[in-house]
Amino acid sequence: MEPRTVITIDGPAGAGKSTVAKLLAATLGYLYLDSGALYRLVAWQSSRLGLDLADSPALDAFLAGLQPEMAADAQGFHLWVDGQEATPFLREPQVSQQSSRVAVLPPVRAWVTEKLRHWAQNGGVVAEGRDLGTVVFPRAECKFYLDAALETRAARRRREWQEDAATLSPEKVAQEIADRDRRDANRAEAPMRAAADALVIDTTDLNPQEVVNQCLAKIRELLPDTAGLKITREMKTG
Ligand code: DC
Repeated sequence: MEPRTVITIDGPAGAGKSTVAKLLAATLGYLYLDSGALYRLVAWQSSRLGLDLADSPALDAFLAGLQPEMAADAQGFHLWVDGQEATPFLREPQVSQQSSRVAVLPPVRAWVTEKLRHWAQNGGVVAEGRDLGTVVFPRAECKFYLDAALETRAARRRREWQEDAATLSPEKVAQEIADRDRRDANRAEAPMRAAADALVIDTTDLNPQEVVNQCLAKIRELLPDTAGLKITREMKTG
């Protein structure tokens, strides 16, 4: 059977990871995995249940019982818990903030890592997050790290939130993202950073397709067979 590949895309909030990962996955015919959604799911469900995160046995029991169903398509990455789709709730601002708090907890990181590795076991995956190239898939064949200026990232988040953004000043959004970046980059466990073998792309002045095309050029260089076979619809920029 043809060996199948894992591609990782790491970087801070608003760097363009989701847009690029979805486009790349669609272009290559790969499965898209969003690790941030799993941290958000833990944050959302544990808050709903009023779980005390400091209670280790309770946290372990909660994680053992948390068995989400997953589906990924061109629209994104969807999660269900006990038959209820969680996806629409996972981007709420309080879930975002809480997600970077649960993400410092080693049992939560181990749970997410185990889920991702299980779903990626047959390869053919584009996976995005903070530590995918460093910790979750250190042997991934192709790694990217996207970054952009804080103001640009905050502006992208505000555009995504549309009507909700009207109530949030650009400064407040930038502050929230900066707080989250600080927690993600400075935690002891799997801090956010570029893998030594990742291609770092500054997306500040690039549109998504320009970033995707840079990624595809790298994939072709590293994996000529895979890329030659699968890339069917590279789009023009500009
Ligand atoms: O990518 P995102 O904004 O959906 O991620 C939500 C939070 O989850 C983020 O603040 C940090 C955490 N996270 C992480 O610690 N490791 C990952 N691989 C992905 C996300």
